[in-house]
Amino acid sequence: MNDSELRPLISAEQIRARVQEMGRQIQTDYPEGPLRLIAILKGACFFLSDLARAIQRDVSIDFMGIASYGRGKSSSGEVKVTKDLDNEIAGLDVLIVEDIVDTGITLAYLCQVLQQRKPKTLRIATLLDKPSRRLKPVDLAYVGFQIPDEFVVGYGLDYAERYRNLANICVLAEGFEEARPDE
Ligand code: IMP
Ligand code: MG
Repeated sequence: MNDSELRPLISAEQIRARVQEMGRQIQTDYPEGPLRLIAILKGACFFLSDLARAIQRDVSIDFMGIASYGRGKSSSGEVKVTKDLDNEIAGLDVLIVEDIVDTGITLAYLCQVLQQRKPKTLRIATLLDKPSRRLKPVDLAYVGFQIPDEFVVGYGLDYAERYRNLANICVLAEGFEEARPDE
């Protein structure tokens, strides 16, 4: 990894503190009954694992695979389910756990799919929100950080599958992709 490509935006400590706050808020908002956390693969897995442990109540987890981006930085505009849930969600409080909401296309589609399965409630928790890029309105119940229109990596977020394991969230330098002959 070449550090000069990356500009730190949100530190690991800031992420940790904010995720703890979000966990406490969710715990207060859902006092009883089953709560199913649904993480969107793969980016949201790091956030899910920290958020689930910050919620001091019973939760269950499930995963959904959704592809809306190719290997580059811009959306294909197409969304498809690449892995469906393992379990039913009818009658449950369901909280979608996402890494970042950009155009909103992915979550608008996912909410529509999941609503048809008749959950008791359906809300979204996202670590990052890029509101300036929104094309489809989505109602975000829990937002970790609002960020400007920049492409970020780390803490689960990737660029062409790289950088997911960075502990902090960084902006990937402009023009970086043009410098890579294999992309
Ligand atoms: P949306 O459908 O445009 O809201 O895109 C959401 C998905 O695009 C996220 O779940 C990410 O996988 C990806 N994405 C959007 N912005 C970024 C970014 O800045 N870095 C990495 N992935 C991103
Ligand atoms: Mg994602």
